[in-house]
Amino acid sequence: MFVSIDILKDGMCIKEDVINEKGMLIVARDTIVTENIISRLKLYNIEEVNVAKNRVKRESSSLKDSLEFKYFKDETNEVKDSLNNSFNKILNDASDNVELRHIMNLGKKMFADNCGNSNILDMLYCMQEFSDTTYVHCINVAMIAGLLGKWLSWSEEDVNMLVTCGMFHDIGKLTIPDSILHKPGKLTDKEYKIMKQHTVAGFDRLQRIEILPPEVKRTAMLHHERCNGTGYPLGIVGEKIDKYSKVIAIADVYDALTANRVYRDALCPFDVVAILEREGLELYETRYIMTFLHKVLYSYLNKKVYLNNGMIASIKEINPDSRAKPVVMVEGGRIVDLSQYDGIKIDSVIE
Ligand SMILES: [Fe+2]
Repeated sequence: MFVSIDILKDGMCIKEDVINEKGMLIVARDTIVTENIISRLKLYNIEEVNVAKNRVKRESSSLKDSLEFKYFKDETNEVKDSLNNSFNKILNDASDNVELRHIMNLGKKMFADNCGNSNILDMLYCMQEFSDTTYVHCINVAMIAGLLGKWLSWSEEDVNMLVTCGMFHDIGKLTIPDSILHKPGKLTDKEYKIMKQHTVAGFDRLQRIEILPPEVKRTAMLHHERCNGTGYPLGIVGEKIDKYSKVIAIADVYDALTANRVYRDALCPFDVVAILEREGLELYETRYIMTFLHKVLYSYLNKKVYLNNGMIASIKEINPDSRAKPVVMVEGGRIVDLSQYDGIKIDSVIE
């Protein structure tokens, strides 16, 4: 049904791509309406949009209201401010060793404080709502990469190295013009070519700083390489890519897909797992990606979710052949294997 922008409400679901007269994608299909989305539609003078009749996202924000999340948010903001200062100094060739050491320690402390928390992935997911800057993305990737290192039983030293690699991996993004970095919709070939330069630009800047470990510099360069050789900037294959860059690549893509973007809402972690399960197996180190998908999904065991038919369910068992479609218990206690139903999937995680 078409509704006027004036009566569009938070939580409604946009049914088809909203495209302006120049053919530019303003908001993608299946986006859940938020204040940001309404502002964007107004900015482009869109008068009405097609929304789904019944599909409205209802969200319990018990985690976001918790004291635990408040502490996490404060800690993230502290690290974010330090990264902001430090990145700007690095880009101006004025880096400061004391400050860099402080940041590396802050990252390790934040990981140590939170890695045992069963809600950490959800808290990272929630943080994206408050800030979608490169700094928060770097912190999120640092935490997710550290977790994956732990899940892979890497040594404490290696796990800490992953955290530091994550913190600095995307510093090169700050050399990319905002008009490309935050462009809503698809980049042109020329813009994508410029975007890809953030890897080399990041490596160049970090290369000048003696105190940073070589692993950190290398991951800034190689985190977009893919095991089948389809990545950039070098297009090298699996055995040529170091283990830290391989882990950062997985953490990076997971955080990017679960993040809110101006033109589309965050994907539910189960949708992200479905995408990675479908498309990721040859792109990433098999053992790393399998461990990652397995652990992410098991972290949602017994959590409540909304199904896309409006029902509430809790996750009871992960299907090894169809990980994004687990066995769930719906209201009334009935057990349903979602892998047996084509049209039904998990819409969002409640708590
Ligand atoms: Fe990147």
